Amino acid sequence: MKVLVACEYSGTVREAFRKLGHDAWSCDILPPDDNSEFHYQCDVSSILNNGWDLMIAHPPCTYLTNAGAVHLYPKKVLNEERYLKGMEAKRFFIKLLKADIPKICIENPIPSKVFALPPYSQFVQPFEHGHPFSKKTCLWLKNLPILKPTNIVTDRQSTKIAGNWFNKGGKDRQKNRAKTFQGIADAMAQQ
Ligand SMILES: C[S@@+](CC[C@H](N)C(=O)[O-])C[C@H]1O[C@@H](n2cnc3c(N)ncnc32)[C@H](O)[C@@H]1O
Repeated sequence: MKVLVACEYSGTVREAFRKLGHDAWSCDILPPDDNSEFHYQCDVSSILNNGWDLMIAHPPCTYLTNAGAVHLYPKKVLNEERYLKGMEAKRFFIKLLKADIPKICIENPIPSKVFALPPYSQFVQPFEHGHPFSKKTCLWLKNLPILKPTNIVTDRQSTKIAGNWFNKGGKDRQKNRAKTFQGIADAMAQQ
């Protein structure tokens, strides 16, 4: 299959698909972390019509999430600039969801109701795929089956504990936190 992994610089999902023999490419405005030649460094909008069979997309969530929404009404007054950024993020999200690609999976945290995104198809957890962490992640699916758990971990750690891998990273902290969990990437490629 010809697979586009949109908004990915880590190569995690791209490589999970390539290992299974798919013609998978990542795309991000950032360069790839692994210097892969199978990466487009550009606005993904410009390559959506390149004949893909499947797209997995990880669009930016900073202004769309429930967590981000607490900054929308500081002192009970709407932060208009933040709201406009959220609406821009929503337009990008919808553009990906409506792309002319037969199979689509969009991944994002739980969205704030303020932006009224379409309902997600399911949510997944790292602990369902071999990692000892909870981090609820929603999937919007088009022509794809629900992702099934591959390896449920019962002994879980909180991602909120200071000093664990999730909170380390100094200047790369934000980048580390945005990376897809390997177990979820592998499950996507397998299923
Ligand atoms: C939440 S991060 C996803 C990271 C991903 N899970 C990974 O493992 O690399 C969102 C990414 O979207 C990228 N991005 C934002 N707008 C984009 C666009 N128009 N075209 C391509 N990538 C874009 C950002 O640079 C950022 O790396």
